[in-house]
Amino acid sequence: MKKIYLDYAATTPVKANVLEKMMPFFTDKFANPSSIHSFGEEAVFALDDSRKAVAQFLNSHQREVVFTASATEANNMAVLGASNNGHIITSSFEHEAVLGPCKTHTDVTYLPVYKEGVVKVEDVLKEIKENTTLISIMYVNSEIGTIQPIKEIGEALEEVNKNRKNKILFHTDAVQAANYLSCDVNNLKVDLLTLSGHKIYGPKGVGVLYVREGSKISQILYGAHQERGHRPGTENIPAIVGMGEAIRSIDVNDSKKTKTMRDKVIDGITSSISGAALNGSRENRIANNINITFTGVEGESMLIALNEEGIAVSTGSACASNSLSPSHVLLSLGLSHRAAHGSLRITLGSMTTEKEIDELLTKLPPIVERLREISGR
Ligand SMILES: Cc1ncc(COP(=O)(O)O)c(C=O)c1O
Repeated sequence: MKKIYLDYAATTPVKANVLEKMMPFFTDKFANPSSIHSFGEEAVFALDDSRKAVAQFLNSHQREVVFTASATEANNMAVLGASNNGHIITSSFEHEAVLGPCKTHTDVTYLPVYKEGVVKVEDVLKEIKENTTLISIMYVNSEIGTIQPIKEIGEALEEVNKNRKNKILFHTDAVQAANYLSCDVNNLKVDLLTLSGHKIYGPKGVGVLYVREGSKISQILYGAHQERGHRPGTENIPAIVGMGEAIRSIDVNDSKKTKTMRDKVIDGITSSISGAALNGSRENRIANNINITFTGVEGESMLIALNEEGIAVSTGSACASNSLSPSHVLLSLGLSHRAAHGSLRITLGSMTTEKEIDELLTKLPPIVERLREISGR
């Protein structure tokens, strides 16, 4: 049985050109970039080259790019480093890597995201206080794929900041956006932005925090002086090289085919299975995400049945899937606990084919029917 992978929001395979570029840095070009000799120089050159690739993608200066060990680390650095004991505004459906550090603060506003799963700019502005220091809103939600109005928030905040002595920093977690949407930091008007290597066909264990020049963020890790002190620790050169090559390979304008397949899946499932409804806005949605609630069926049971047919999907974000509690993202849309438990996330990627989609659309309806018969619903 040929297996079908439809969980690209959890992680992506490393592209062949990315792996090829990384390989010498495990063996021949193994040096520490902090070493002054010629071996070290080679590593510095590779590090600089990747930084250049990321800066080009973000339309930023190279010195504003900080390599981290993951997007989780970058999000923690942004929230803990920029909040400066002030008031934070975030949304109720951020990734745990933003919500977790927010929980260590007492003064945090969690914005509603409504049924459509989209933050309202006016809600952000309404919540700004004298002591607000940081706004952190994700670019694309990892479970339901809804796109947030980052540019609009950035523009509105720029006006607000003109009349403030203590400027509010604006962070966005762009991990799920980078394959399909422009992450031009000057256009979005963000001060901090997070990326992850393994969501863009690069390696795991590497991320980026973009830090706009002049943004005051305090250190959360202490050690040597790598990454201008923001992220001490010997740089993971093979992974950073992979991140640079992966980012060079992104073409955000190349989403038409994925979008067409996404729409075919949404229409196919909601028209052939009764009680199946899309979660989150259809219009403001990333090209590769389908998240559907099925009444009267457990998400886990559907996932297991599909897995037996060789089709890999998920019930939510990979990080939350070990937990029995319903997804905080789906609850934030106003879904009941029962409905939140009956959801599937299907995410497409560069290797997804029409044939795979057709197979999913053939296999899923009888699975849902059988599970509903078993549960008597
Ligand atoms: C939106 C978002 N932010 C952050 C992360 C964490 O990324 P990493 O695995 O690089 O720590 C993920 C991964 O699921 C994500 O989807």
